[in-house]
Amino acid sequence: MSAFRAFWIEKADDAFARSIISRDVDELPAGDLLVEVRYSSLNYKDGLSATGQPGVTRNYPHTPGIDAAGVVLESSVDAFGPGDEVVAIGFDLGMNTPGGFGQRIRIPAGWATPLPTGLSLEQSMILGTAGFTAALSVDKLETFGMTPSGGPVLVTGATGGVGSVAVMLLSQLGYTVHAVTGKAHQHGFLRDIGATEIVDREAALDGANRPLLRETWGGVVDTVGGDILFNAVKSLRYGASLAACGLVASPMIPATVLPFILRHVNLLGIDSVELPIERKTALWRKLGGDWKIDGLDTLKRPMRLEELSAGIDRILAGEMVGRGVLQLDD
Ligand SMILES: NC(=O)c1ccc[n+]([C@@H]2O[C@H](COP(=O)([O-])OP(=O)(O)OC[C@H]3O[C@@H](n4cnc5c(N)ncnc54)[C@H](OP(=O)(O)O)[C@@H]3O)[C@@H](O)[C@H]2O)c1
Repeated sequence: MSAFRAFWIEKADDAFARSIISRDVDELPAGDLLVEVRYSSLNYKDGLSATGQPGVTRNYPHTPGIDAAGVVLESSVDAFGPGDEVVAIGFDLGMNTPGGFGQRIRIPAGWATPLPTGLSLEQSMILGTAGFTAALSVDKLETFGMTPSGGPVLVTGATGGVGSVAVMLLSQLGYTVHAVTGKAHQHGFLRDIGATEIVDREAALDGANRPLLRETWGGVVDTVGGDILFNAVKSLRYGASLAACGLVASPMIPATVLPFILRHVNLLGIDSVELPIERKTALWRKLGGDWKIDGLDTLKRPMRLEELSAGIDRILAGEMVGRGVLQLDD
């Protein structure tokens, strides 16, 4: 089959129209691997691409989808052959290269990871970029000394993609997890996936005008930025770290140097996009092995191409809970 279905964003003046179209594989860019995409997932960045927000997609029309999991149909390299199951996240996929919201992608071999033992294609997309980023954050925090005995760990944007996987993973690794949420009706969900305490988003904003707050957290996974991020930095225990990976509240940080020079704390940067493929592959293996998350299916919110547009509106409104998993077979 050379024709395939794809989600399609077209720009007309300043409006971005969404549709589902039929494309031909000959229209895809050159690349080492032609992949039949079986699953993708919905990430916040896909919402930004679908609505023409600056800094994501330069040229339209375009098919978003920064995640894809599927089967190699054609390969021009020795490392992969037809029939191999692969996962691709980040790099330029879904940014300016047609992404996982289509049934076919053509990509450089250097963007692909063999599907790790222990995960199905669908499970790899329940994780997707969001889950991978949660794991990357926990991995870096542990590299900087975070341990379960070092105090509770705070996760912000906790019902979202990165947040919900972070809560589950940390809880499974033996951490006491406190979860910040703006969704009063999702406290039960957060407790079910492993949070022991829930912090209302408004409470997480308290104290923004104070230079330091009570030492509380042994680590923080922050997905939101802004005042919540820096309040969390001001509440880190001596020598502890915050992993900053998101900006749904704000890309700004209202910072002073005080927590850094008085409490020896660390602000750690997290980037899943350009992380070298060797490191991506190693962390994917861990997610299929030692860090395989029990009950991951709890986070799955299945969707088809026809439901994607509504999902995009939900994720941009901050209303998503768990992970939107797109199934692409006909
Ligand atoms: N650095 C990287 O490599 C990387 C990778 C993946 C994602 N990200 C970034 O991480 C962030 C989260 O991505 P995601 O896919 O998890 O998105 P998501 O599923 O939409 O989750 C974001 C969550 O943040 C909370 N939230 C929304 N608006 C907020 C606001 N104004 N103030 C405070 N909290 C708010 C909501 O959770 P509650 O209602 O529970 O508070 C929402 O569900 C995004 O900024 C994304 O671009 C970065």
